[in-house]
Amino acid sequence: MCVVAYSTITLIRQVFHMLKAIGSKKELSSDSYYSHVSDIINSSELDKLKEITHHISTTRFQHCLNVSYYTYLICKKLHLDARAAARAGLLHDLFYYDRKKYNKSKIRGQLSHSSMHSRLAVENAADLTDISDLERDMIENHMWPMTRSFPKYKESYIITLTDKYCAVLEFCIPRIKTVLS
Ligand SMILES: [Fe+2]
Ligand SMILES: [Fe+2]
Repeated sequence: MCVVAYSTITLIRQVFHMLKAIGSKKELSSDSYYSHVSDIINSSELDKLKEITHHISTTRFQHCLNVSYYTYLICKKLHLDARAAARAGLLHDLFYYDRKKYNKSKIRGQLSHSSMHSRLAVENAADLTDISDLERDMIENHMWPMTRSFPKYKESYIITLTDKYCAVLEFCIPRIKTVLS
């Protein structure tokens, strides 16, 4: 009975939980992208990010999904490691503190938000799943050039760009929609 109830709830969640990246009309749960992240995308650790506002107009989960999907697409096109791109993108901002509060209470010598959240994201990602050296580098250095070390891999440079690209879209699209409505 419990198994039936659990399966039904899972099915309902899948039907009603639409996964779309910003600017895309594609439902990602039926895309090849999904197979690379299916073991982590519904985890409670990522679910918690749905409650946290990010870049003013979106959630931290949606931002991670956006970065994950576009980094995946670019890496796939360039014949790089698309699976690592999808996974590192989804995990790159896996932290739970409030950025504004962190900056306000930051004391001299304390790590900047750029360094701190990347480090926490790596630790949280490693607690959640096995991460490769490539995925670790992508998460740790996604804030480059605001990080001390340079990225080691091509995929890491790509995530630095898609992270910034998505941040701009997330900020601008809701405002453009408001102006046009
Ligand atoms: Fe970040
Ligand atoms: Fe980010």
